[in-house]
Amino acid sequence: MKISGDIRYVGVNDHEVDLFEGQYVVPNGMAYNSYVILDEKIAVMDTVDARFGEEWLSLVKAALDGRKPDYLVVQHMEPDHSANITLFMEAFPKAVVVSSDKAFVMMKNFFGDNYPERRISVKEGSVLPLGRHTLHFIGAPMVHWPEVIMTYDDADQVLFSADGFGKFGANDVEDPEGWACEARRYYFGIVGKYGAPVQTVLKKAAGLPIGIICPLHGPVLTENPGYYLGLYDTWSSYRPEEEGVVIAYASVYGNTKKAAEALADLLRAKGCPKVVLTDLARSDMPENVEDAFRYSKLVLASPTYNGDVFPFMKQFIEHLTERAYQNRTVGLIENGSWAPMAAKVMRKLLEGSKNLTFTETTVTVQSALSESSRAQLERLAEELTR
Ligand code: FEO
Repeated sequence: MKISGDIRYVGVNDHEVDLFEGQYVVPNGMAYNSYVILDEKIAVMDTVDARFGEEWLSLVKAALDGRKPDYLVVQHMEPDHSANITLFMEAFPKAVVVSSDKAFVMMKNFFGDNYPERRISVKEGSVLPLGRHTLHFIGAPMVHWPEVIMTYDDADQVLFSADGFGKFGANDVEDPEGWACEARRYYFGIVGKYGAPVQTVLKKAAGLPIGIICPLHGPVLTENPGYYLGLYDTWSSYRPEEEGVVIAYASVYGNTKKAAEALADLLRAKGCPKVVLTDLARSDMPENVEDAFRYSKLVLASPTYNGDVFPFMKQFIEHLTERAYQNRTVGLIENGSWAPMAAKVMRKLLEGSKNLTFTETTVTVQSALSESSRAQLERLAEELTR
């Protein structure tokens, strides 16, 4: 597949992966992208997951059409991209590997060799002339590992963005939800903690004319790069993307669930633009994390459990706080049959989060909804739609 006159796509699609990076369900599979830049000198951009080495190598050879590559650029050492460095270096014994100092340390640790006689170390501002194309390297530490570099090709105005702008899903599966849905779940799951480093890279990218974004996962982004850059700016600055309320609940016998559902009904009746109701025990956790970051308000509803919150709620809040959840309005619903504690615990779990506004109303359900707790829900709905 041609990306531009000289750039070919040589990535692969994975329909076998059960959990991407050991934890993310990917019902539409996953793509590991790689590219070949054909010029006076030839550069191959990254490799692919270990299970696709031979398939990838034959795609690379087909793109080379009998020529030999000069460089393998390794932007990221996570094995879904680096696993076939050895295969490549053996297949093309004159090729040189181009990467960051930190990546060369990881290369030795992962694969036993970092090619001291066949390598070029690059960093922010380094360039690699290929002929018509010159590759400009951009340091992108912690997007989302420390060794990461991105690469800008000035000839065709292409940004090779490593994991940035990636998406769950294989490239041969049409995603009816469009790019943003699975790109957002991917972003907040994998990169969400690293908003500040993403902001730093976006500032560097702002000075470049970018026509095409070539990420290491998901489709090549050939149109309207401003749309994708804008979403990354929103996500990495932890601003809500849309007005709406996410009600995330955990429930043992259904009474906390009833309170969450009653709040959802009240919010809808009051014209809340978007209400998302999710059972933390029976839904995809990364999807819930994505929604919490997508919308402006969050209500957490949990039973008191062993003097704490229900385990799924604790896990959810920890996913949020470790990703620097901030800048949102938060409401709390607790349930407890003899000593309700959950609201206090949830507030404590969130105490390190910046710029959270807690609603004045906290709802306490004692075992089951009552007139008094229904009145509290009414007040909470009022506050959330003010
Ligand atoms: Fe796609 Fe961070 O590896």
